[in-house]
Amino acid sequence: MTRLRIAVQSKGRLSEGGMDLLKRCGLRFAYGRDKLHQRAENMPVDLMLVRDDDIPNFVASGACDYGIVGENVLREEQLAGGRTAELEIALRLGFATCRLKLAVPVEGEIRDLADLQGKAIATSYPGITRAYLATRGIDVEIVEMRGSVEVAPRLHIADAICDLVSSGATLQANGLKAIETVFESEAVLIRRKGVQAPETDSIARILMRRAEGVIASSQ
Ligand code: PRP
Ligand code: ZN
Ligand code: MG
Repeated sequence: MTRLRIAVQSKGRLSEGGMDLLKRCGLRFAYGRDKLHQRAENMPVDLMLVRDDDIPNFVASGACDYGIVGENVLREEQLAGGRTAELEIALRLGFATCRLKLAVPVEGEIRDLADLQGKAIATSYPGITRAYLATRGIDVEIVEMRGSVEVAPRLHIADAICDLVSSGATLQANGLKAIETVFESEAVLIRRKGVQAPETDSIARILMRRAEGVIASSQ
């Protein structure tokens, strides 16, 4: 029997919530979280535990049928071009809500969006950041960073940052304040657009119906 392949983040913001949702949908797994490939014992479903940034491309290329990923990561990968344009959101999952925000030093001269003109902005989301500012006529230099973006102003690598904020603790601990929300995100279930493979579609439908129930009951 053909098995449904779902890509889930191996570690980070969405991994626990993603696994938790799948378990509450009735899937049972034998192994711990460190295994790259997990086989459900009671349904024809396989999980691939990978880096979140890779999930849109894994689904777009057909390596996986579905993926659980932050909408911010989906959007960023889609702005990077390629086959990710063929992806769609099958279901909004209602967890891992966060905002991508522009933030600046509390003690600085930058107060609003207009003050960012010509400045350097550190971010792990160059596509979303650039697109947002471009539509508002703000021209900036993007400094791309993989992580620890919040240290950039202090190290004089950039004047401002554009990074994910959930509690706000990271901004506060680094003497930064948000001046603008660029993107609102939550975990989403993605798949390729169009007709789904008939061998796996029925199991996907069952899982999504259960997920809708789980999401509704936890709101
Ligand atoms: C994000 C972001 C901040 C932090 C914000 O990092 O980059 O560091 O979360 O959350 P807070 O407002 O609750 O403090 P994440 O944990 O996603 O990891 P990463 O920076 O390694 O991508
Ligand atoms: Zn990532
Ligand atoms: Mg971080």
